[in-house]
Amino acid sequence: MHVKFVVAAEALFAGYALAVPTATQQTKRQTGVEEYIASESPIAYQGVLNNIGPDGSGAQGAAADFYTWTRDSGLVFKELGDAFIAGDAALEVHLQNYVTAQAELQKVSNPSGDLETGGLGEPKFHVDMTAFTEEWGRPQSDGPALRAIALITYANHLIGSGQTEQAQNIWPLVQNDIAYVTEWWNKTTFDLWEEVEGSSFFTAASQHRALIEANALAAALGQTCEGCEEQASQVLCFVQDFWTGSAVNSNINTQGNNRAGLDANSFVSIIHTFDPEAPCDDVTFQPCSARSLANHKAVVDSFREGYGVNQGIEQGVGVAVGRYIEDVYMGGNPWYLCTAAAAEILYDALFQWAKIGTLSITDVSLPFFTDIYESAAVGDYAADSEEYTAITAAVKEYADSFIGVLQKYTPKDGSLAEQFGRDDGTPKSAAHLTWSYASFLTMIARRGGIVPPTWGAATGNTLPDQCSGASGKGNYAGPATVSWPSA
Ligand code: NOJ
Repeated sequence: MHVKFVVAAEALFAGYALAVPTATQQTKRQTGVEEYIASESPIAYQGVLNNIGPDGSGAQGAAADFYTWTRDSGLVFKELGDAFIAGDAALEVHLQNYVTAQAELQKVSNPSGDLETGGLGEPKFHVDMTAFTEEWGRPQSDGPALRAIALITYANHLIGSGQTEQAQNIWPLVQNDIAYVTEWWNKTTFDLWEEVEGSSFFTAASQHRALIEANALAAALGQTCEGCEEQASQVLCFVQDFWTGSAVNSNINTQGNNRAGLDANSFVSIIHTFDPEAPCDDVTFQPCSARSLANHKAVVDSFREGYGVNQGIEQGVGVAVGRYIEDVYMGGNPWYLCTAAAAEILYDALFQWAKIGTLSITDVSLPFFTDIYESAAVGDYAADSEEYTAITAAVKEYADSFIGVLQKYTPKDGSLAEQFGRDDGTPKSAAHLTWSYASFLTMIARRGGIVPPTWGAATGNTLPDQCSGASGKGNYAGPATVSWPSA
């Protein structure tokens, strides 16, 4: 049994030296984005696989001072689930091992508590699945929601392919994570960057999605999702509080922090709550919504001045994007995954406009559009109009220009670290970050029109008559060991 199945978030080779290209090498390699996509895609795919499971080359013999984060794992396995459903059959064994490992991990007592007292909100564990007991920003309440979303993706596939019994084995794990969400959604958490204590847009948006999907899964399995529907609309109500009128303020209810609020937290949220069947809905911050596009401009512009690598790049052309401009962690640099998310939002939006057949520009989104298409004006543009063709071409070009930034700062060997230097563009911080590779892959999939299954955003966007912060009492039970027919 593959119990030690984890996502190692950092490079696991002791003494691994990162190849850093010289400026000349980088310039020589600068070709079209298509070539970069072709060369980087297999590297990114292998980069993810190297860091997961007992067989991953990076995970083998991993020492106890390497870690697995519930968030990174949830996001990566959600993506692997989507890729599996889209046709990559070889990934199924990894999904099964992930489920098996999470059934054990949920039971590991840790400084956040045990299964029934908040332990699911523990952000990270040693890769040997023992608790990490040093001081850390805990709890991080996005983890259970993200794990539930990843588990549900695979469970839905099992139901769809007639393997409902296997899906039933996944339900107890989902039920625990959802019990945590219903109980903890209105309590203070650390944000996804593990720094600010308060309320995080990413956390709340992920929790809303998890509740909607868990409710539907319960119905399909003849199970009960205690309080999920009511809580989902309350969490969605709370999500609205992060909108300032012109952008997302990613961290609210904090005990004082020095940030203006513009943060790639919102980008990561928007790509992970993208629903290919939803309209351009502001309430769920769909990628093509006016809110999302206004926020896109505000966040991207916040990085134009401060980074040396962005100097001289005009408005309307993609730049390097970091977590938030006030960041100082490891030098406060741009991040590969944040720059990729800036592009991915736009590919998602292009998919939505094409599906809906109309592109609407409102007062709120107009400044986004005028940056990339000077004569943009408020209005609705049908897919067969000249304006639609021209505006969507400009959006595509803009999205591709963020890939151009990634291309410029990807070292010759194609490896993706966590960050790249704000002034010199060289890789920084954790090498071979699983999440960096995964973010490249989802960006490229969306660019190619490959989208994940719907999560129900089109109908799960109802706000309650009255907002309330009341939480539910979760129903936890230690999951049984999960094994698979073929294992
Ligand atoms: C730090 C990042 O801010 C956080 O989001 C991530 O989960 C961990 N590194 C692990 O990759």
